[in-house]
Amino acid sequence: MMEPNVTEIPATVLVGVTGGIAAYKAAEIVRSLVKEGLDVHVVMTRNAQEFITPLTLQVLSGNPVWTETFHLTQEQKIGHISLVDRSSLLLIAPATANVLGKVAAGVADDLLTTMVCAATRIPVIFAPSMNVNMYQNPITQENIERLKRFGYLFIEPEEGELACGYEGVGRLADPGDIVEQVVGRLAPKDLTEEHILVTAGPTEEAIDPVRFLTNPSSGKMGYAIARAAAQRGAKVTLISGPTSCAPPLDVELVRVRSAEEMRKAVMKAFPASTTVVMAAAVSDFAPASRAKQKVKKQDASLTLKLKTTPDILLELGQKKEDRLLIGFAAETQSLVKNARAKLEKKNLDLIVANDVSRKEIGFQSDSNQVKIIGKDGSISELPLLPKRVLAHRVLDQIGILRSNPGKGRRRKT
Ligand code: PMT
Repeated sequence: MMEPNVTEIPATVLVGVTGGIAAYKAAEIVRSLVKEGLDVHVVMTRNAQEFITPLTLQVLSGNPVWTETFHLTQEQKIGHISLVDRSSLLLIAPATANVLGKVAAGVADDLLTTMVCAATRIPVIFAPSMNVNMYQNPITQENIERLKRFGYLFIEPEEGELACGYEGVGRLADPGDIVEQVVGRLAPKDLTEEHILVTAGPTEEAIDPVRFLTNPSSGKMGYAIARAAAQRGAKVTLISGPTSCAPPLDVELVRVRSAEEMRKAVMKAFPASTTVVMAAAVSDFAPASRAKQKVKKQDASLTLKLKTTPDILLELGQKKEDRLLIGFAAETQSLVKNARAKLEKKNLDLIVANDVSRKEIGFQSDSNQVKIIGKDGSISELPLLPKRVLAHRVLDQIGILRSNPGKGRRRKT
């Protein structure tokens, strides 16, 4: 049961870069797509090369950058049509008014527009960026409408201060959002039947109006799970303690502060959920009382009286019915023994055990190394993985548990 059914996205993605001031943001987009494990090939128009060099994008993508339609070496080696054929998606970011107009008119007079013309079997996504007047020009708007009618996809530009000094709509969408939408398009949609409740981050237990007890959780693990679940088609409710993580797209985000607030939010969302993943580092203790005013510095030492907080997962385990419950165990010793004890006590289906005494994994790091322990006693030891990849491995277990006969299945509401 515990063999991981790895969901990787071994896709080749084409990124077209056209000549606008936002072309420099293509560097961040390409770098992030590569970090997502994608094989990225960049195609640049002649004008794009005025803003950013092919060498930059070649280094970041790890692949030769395509610039010429008829280039002896490039053509002999691979051919622009075959590159489209073996790609899963074509993203054009930034997309100028010019490229939108050319594609809308069926013009294929350079390498990028030729590739777009040939890309009839894969999603083509435009992320426009231009001056507000150019964007609002009825010709541009009509071209966009026409392209949408033909099934081309758009990541709409944002409103704000533009590089040309104007204010308005036309700024390239946030590179992080562009990457998330590309990855979301490529991810398998195997969790569409699930409504997954994910918790993330630390809790803060107030001592007085300006002080609190907390822990080093950054929220990265829980946010990665919420993001990956949404990309795989699940309805996702993310209940988060205070973090600086960017909210994932297509996720209902509920922000809380204390363990008590997290409990309330979890209990409210629980009835509609089919699976719960508790990645939050919920504080086990809170001050027995909260001072109304800032506690004054005393000469003598201060003694804090603590009380235990509600154990949210324990409570969920008592009313889980046919839901799947996945917990995390943050341990500094006897990892497997302690994690197993939590799995049993809290009536979980799985527990993901991480050794938080190791600096390079667990709290705050971008990677984690865990053991996934099943209630049948099985242990799956995973290698050191980026939390983004680990999130998919944990979610893979949902399908495995669901296909295990004897388990009921709740439909999302
Ligand atoms: O946020 P990051 O910086 O990315 O770090 C990730 C992480 C280390 C926080 C994460 O991988 C992790 O281990 N999360 C669980 C931390 C924790 O509280 O472990 P625990 O062993 O104390 O609790 C066991 C389980 O019970 C957890 O699922 C926890 O959410 C839950 N719990 C704990 C206490 C409590 N009062 N209520 C709970 O529901």
